[in-house]
Amino acid sequence: MSLQNFFNSLDELVSEARATLSSVDSGDSLEALRVKFVGAKNGALKSVQKLLGAVDVPDKPAAGKRFNEVRDAIQALLDEATARIGGGAVAKSESLPDATLPGLRPRLGQLHPITQTIEHLKEIMGRLGFTATEGPEIEDTWHNFVALNIPEDHPARDPLDNFYLATAKAANSSPLDRDAMLLRSQTSTVQIRVMESQPLPLRIISLGRVYRPDAPDATHFPMFHQMEGLWVDRNVTMAQLKSVLRLFATSYLGGDVNVRFRPSFFPFTEPSVEVDYWWNGQWIEFGGAGMVDPNVFQHLNIDSEKWSGFAFGLGVERLCMRRYGITDIRDLYRSDVRFLRQFAQ
Ligand code: DAH
Repeated sequence: MSLQNFFNSLDELVSEARATLSSVDSGDSLEALRVKFVGAKNGALKSVQKLLGAVDVPDKPAAGKRFNEVRDAIQALLDEATARIGGGAVAKSESLPDATLPGLRPRLGQLHPITQTIEHLKEIMGRLGFTATEGPEIEDTWHNFVALNIPEDHPARDPLDNFYLATAKAANSSPLDRDAMLLRSQTSTVQIRVMESQPLPLRIISLGRVYRPDAPDATHFPMFHQMEGLWVDRNVTMAQLKSVLRLFATSYLGGDVNVRFRPSFFPFTEPSVEVDYWWNGQWIEFGGAGMVDPNVFQHLNIDSEKWSGFAFGLGVERLCMRRYGITDIRDLYRSDVRFLRQFAQ
C-alpha cells in the first residue's frame, strides 16, 4: 500500500471523528462513538493500524509516526466531548450523589396533638388505676341533665347553650322534653352510663368530645374535649380526690404544679370545687370536681349510705395548651400542617 493511500485513510478517519464527536450530545452516543473509533476489537483505528503492515518498508517510520498523531488526535477529541457532556460509563457513576450522605426522609403522617394528649392522659390515669371508657356524643336529656341532678329549669339546659338535635321525635317537642336529644355538653354523661351498667366499685375515666354553642376565640371553641373521672367505692374521700388530681398534674405538667380547690357548685356533686393548677406563676382553672351528690346515686338506685365517690372533669385542650405553650385553641382545629407538624412524635 502506498504511503499516500495510508495517509488518506487516516485523514478520513480524523475528519469523521471530528465531525461526529464535536456534535455528540448524549453520554450513550458518545460511548457508541468511542467503541466505533477506538474500540479494542473492531474500532476504526484498529482497522487502519492493520493497514500499516501493508505499507512499503521504507515508508514505515513516516506511516507509524502519522498513525500515532492521528490516534492522539482522536483521543483528544474523545476527551473533549467527554468533558463537554459528561457522558460515558465513568462520567455517569461520577454524577451519583454522595452515597454516604443521610437519605431524604419521606414525610409521614402523625397523630393530632389532642389525640396524643388523650393517649398520654389515659396512660397516666391508667397507672393510677383508672380504666378508660367511652360514651356516645349524641345524648338524651336523661344522661346529660336529669340523672346528673340538673333540674328542668336549670340554665344549663337552655336551648341557647346546647346543640339540641332536630330529630323526628323532637320535631314537635321542646328541648325540655325527656326524649329530646343533643350533642353532649359534658362528659359527666358517662358517669351515669357507667353506673347504670357496671358493678361497684368503679374507677373510670372517660375522654371525648363535648359541644357548646360558644363563639370561637382564643380560649373557646364549639367543640372541645374533656377528661371525666369517677371513683365510687366504700369510704372514698375528698382527700383522695385531691391526691389523685395532684399526682396526675405532676405527672402531666411537671414537678412545679400545685393544686388548689375553690368552693363551687355543680348539681351532680356535693361539695363541689373548681380545680386550679399553679403554673408558671399563676393559678389556672382546669375544671371542676367534687363528691358525687346522693341525688345522683338515688337516680341509679345506689345506696349512698354504703357507697361514696368523687368525680372530676378537666379540659383536655387546656392541659395540652399549657404543656406545649399553645396560646390559641383555634390553632388546634385549623388543620394547618405547618402548626401540626410541630407535634411529630
Ligand atoms: N361537667 C362539668 C363541666 O363541664 C365539669 C365537672 C365538674 C365534672 C364537677 C365533674 C365534676 O365530674 O364533679 O363544666
